Amino acid sequence: MDELTDAAFATLTAKIARDRGFGCASYKDKCLRRRIAVRMRARGVHTYADYAKVLDADGAEYDKLLDALTINVTKLFRNWETYAAIAEKVVPALWAQNGPIRVWSAGCSSGEEPYSLAALFHRHAEKVGQPGQLAQRVSVLGSDIDARSLEAAERGHFEEADFADTPPDLRQRYFAPTAPFTIVPEVKRLVRFERRDLLAQDPPPGPHQLIVCRNVLIYFDRETQERLFDKYHQALAPGGFLVLGKVETLLGAARTRFASVDGRERIFRPL
Ligand SMILES: C[S@@+](CC[C@H](N)C(=O)[O-])C[C@H]1O[C@@H](n2cnc3c(N)ncnc32)[C@H](O)[C@@H]1O
Repeated sequence: MDELTDAAFATLTAKIARDRGFGCASYKDKCLRRRIAVRMRARGVHTYADYAKVLDADGAEYDKLLDALTINVTKLFRNWETYAAIAEKVVPALWAQNGPIRVWSAGCSSGEEPYSLAALFHRHAEKVGQPGQLAQRVSVLGSDIDARSLEAAERGHFEEADFADTPPDLRQRYFAPTAPFTIVPEVKRLVRFERRDLLAQDPPPGPHQLIVCRNVLIYFDRETQERLFDKYHQALAPGGFLVLGKVETLLGAARTRFASVDGRERIFRPL
């Protein structure tokens, strides 16, 4: 009997969801299978049932599996072109509204994205001679399902490789010059972190003037993506913005509920 059947896979993913609260059912199967296969190879097991036994016997393997499933790859100012578009089209527009600017980086991994966004607002406030308004107006929430990534995010320490997409002037202005390349306190204090499962049924935090959800939706099935677009639409204040990852786009009803601000950089406004 083939032990890599759909039924065996479903039994394993149901177990993972039950044991660790990771809602496998909403992720694309292909993606999950590929990542589970990597862990099975690492442990030299060939069937889903045997891998389930390894998970029961070894909590550390469970942690490694969840690490593999959550895919935490990120960078400061990842895809700089997108941040350049945010700096040009989103930051000044929100600043000009003169109200609170609540930013949500949903699926923030180890914090590179929320810190990069906070730095853009900081730079703009200095440029327009209003840095004194930052603490009162700008708050950036970084949320993720992965507690270990959030611990790293709270530290705000970075490695050389994190800076691959960072323009030199921003690196120099906002990060310590030597390892561990700490983010400066005036930006760090604008950001807070929270563990949050995007698949949970609770209402989204909000209202937000800017929601950035990049390189997270691609792992979810279509129905889940549509549900999240709905959630983001509800959570956005009028005049707010939504930014997706480069390979992500609006689906279903969301296509008529948002207008494109920058198609290439995946920036939208709720209608
Ligand atoms: C590839 S990272 C993206 C990081 C950042 N947004 C970027 O684009 O550089 C994907 C993140 O989504 C998080 N994630 C996956 N499933 C999630 C869920 N159900 N709820 C919240 N975060 C989730 C992962 O833990 C991971 O940190």
